[in-house]
Amino acid sequence: MIEPANFVPSSSQTDFIHSLIAKMTLEEKVGQMVQKDLSTKADLVSEAAQGSIGALLTIKDPDYIRACQNAAKGKSRLKIPLLVGNDIIHGYKLTYPIPLALACSWNPEMIAEIARQSAIEARQHGTNWIFAPMVDICRDSRWGRVAESTGEDTYLSSRLAEAWVCGFQSLPQIAACVKHFAAYGAVEAGRDYNTVDISERTLREVYLPPFKAAIQAGAKSIMPSFTDLNGLPATINPLLLTQILRREWGFQGVVVSDYDAIGELVHHRVCANLREAALKSLLAGIDIDMMSGAYQGYLIDLVENGSVPSSLIDDAVFRILQMKLEIGLFDAEAPITLESQTNRGKQLALDAALQSTVLLKNEGNVLPIQPDRMQKIVLIGPFAANTLDLLGCWTFDPHTDNLLSLENALRLELNSEDCLLVEDGCDFTSDSWDHQRSIQAAKAADIVVLALGEPAAMSGEAHSRAHLNLPGAQQQLAQSILALDKQVVLIIFAGRPLCIPQLDEAADAVIYAWHGGQEAAKAVAQLITGKKNPSGKLAITIPRSEGQIPIYYNHKSTGRPYNLKGTFQFNQEHRSIYIDESVLPLYPFGHGLSYSSFAITDLSIQNPHLQKDSELVFTVKVRNTGLMRGTEVLQVYYQDCVSAYTRPVKELVAFRRLELDPGEQETLYFRIPASSFCTLDAAYQPYLDLGEYKLWLASSSQQGLEAFFSIH
Ligand code: NOJ
Repeated sequence: MIEPANFVPSSSQTDFIHSLIAKMTLEEKVGQMVQKDLSTKADLVSEAAQGSIGALLTIKDPDYIRACQNAAKGKSRLKIPLLVGNDIIHGYKLTYPIPLALACSWNPEMIAEIARQSAIEARQHGTNWIFAPMVDICRDSRWGRVAESTGEDTYLSSRLAEAWVCGFQSLPQIAACVKHFAAYGAVEAGRDYNTVDISERTLREVYLPPFKAAIQAGAKSIMPSFTDLNGLPATINPLLLTQILRREWGFQGVVVSDYDAIGELVHHRVCANLREAALKSLLAGIDIDMMSGAYQGYLIDLVENGSVPSSLIDDAVFRILQMKLEIGLFDAEAPITLESQTNRGKQLALDAALQSTVLLKNEGNVLPIQPDRMQKIVLIGPFAANTLDLLGCWTFDPHTDNLLSLENALRLELNSEDCLLVEDGCDFTSDSWDHQRSIQAAKAADIVVLALGEPAAMSGEAHSRAHLNLPGAQQQLAQSILALDKQVVLIIFAGRPLCIPQLDEAADAVIYAWHGGQEAAKAVAQLITGKKNPSGKLAITIPRSEGQIPIYYNHKSTGRPYNLKGTFQFNQEHRSIYIDESVLPLYPFGHGLSYSSFAITDLSIQNPHLQKDSELVFTVKVRNTGLMRGTEVLQVYYQDCVSAYTRPVKELVAFRRLELDPGEQETLYFRIPASSFCTLDAAYQPYLDLGEYKLWLASSSQQGLEAFFSIH
């Protein structure tokens, strides 16, 4: 595992910062608290030379960045370097799968390496501050930003958050910024920027742990979310920013507002104007104002007329300068080797796409397609020839030359040109489609590969959807082809789980390929031709219909669970179900098939009656019972059988990826601290229920090898 660079400020560093602050004018101090992009048409080079900005935002041009940085470091009075912030969400030039896809790899080591490679590229182009990872738990795939998230599970997201932070910050002169604090993923109705209103228990149990994990891994900065939380915008929310972040977690780093989030306090109608917004934000602990102009416009006056103590400005500037110093911005530029455009970097993007792709269904082992059997393959759909939409929703400055489409990639994998016929069928926008040609082509096929989905621009920020269907005429196209009674492999490229129950039922095989980055097509081609074996496991539940949302595996039991019996009334229809839809998802969290099969056996708990300050110790065997080398992601879930507060039906508590040859067996050894089974008491302090617990060793959240243990 990549380790974070270890920055411990020495007393001489602290002295340096204090002496710098002592030399600064109020204007220069406020300048450090201002971050700008180029949309204001401001001359940022001059502002940097005057010391009236401390950070840049979303600037790609390395020459412009260098000019600003030279002005700050060379011409400004105190020669303080600039922070250069950018959103490196899934790569810089080299584009990896979207984070939601990467999460399906359940591979923190690989994600740390991706973060490191992205940071190397970013730094080469002048960036030193990365607005990632986004660690918002999301149980609602209508929200467009689900693509940037690592899915629905707190434990998995926490482990991946650590990996991202360690990967980014393993490089000198890079700071990570974990976002969006907190519970942005819980926006009502999945509509971006909408209200968030959840209990403090849910906030603390479900949404906060990935932030805490990122901070414990050393994240240098944090960004509050645009949204309100339980009645107060996150930007000025004292529970989040003062109580939890600073008091409980002891975070010493920088808090940066989201883009114009200080200005948006006026639209939230909790501030009358920008001046009041500046005042409240400073008092709440926002160190850097991203783009609202409030700090630049009003802080000096607010200090001079006594509305805010100058010590608050000094505290914020101290944190900003400390971050600049800790990551080495005052030093000469550290040399870096650019590995990411080498074969190694491309191989990493390919591995990531391979490990992110999830085989959902494979009836009759229709996959892999055997190239040597000379089957006639017809590839149909808007993703057959498309390349750019494979990249995903938050590309920064991607390489777009030589991208492979699925058609090109399949031609490279198949031995013969003649066996592949390609039809676009339809596009993403129009309701019409080339019925005649597509049907004719499909009729001639031994196997039809349908390449469908949503374009990259339908997910990401401000791209929430109310209808999670296939846009355009894709549904009609697919239904007509599926009615032909041919073998059909359905491949979905998307930034979120889509609701496709009928197509899923009719297709023989279904692959969820997400938006897999620059190597996506190659990965899918290698997987469907059997050159590689699928290993992805869903990091988010796939619903059957929008009406089931929010849907997630670790829901509570309820007093009338859908699968239990009770009183006469409960046994009839008064259960927690729908009258017009199943309560079960289309595919559950953790699900994902392989061309191999795996047997999980011989679970042996060494201490089934453990003490509350000890560890649960157990072993389990996993055997590859298939014919191909393959990877299983072994998942460990538990249930607190009887608890003081209602708790989820099951919760992920550990996982392990392991690759096995056919017939090979491995014994896995687990030690899980009893504290991992804690919940929160009435005062939200960690609290361990004593008594019985259930354990599952599983290949998905739906079933597994069961055992019990108890805590005393
Ligand atoms: C708004 C987004 O919410 C945030 O994630 C991003 O870092 C900033 N804009 C800067 O681009």
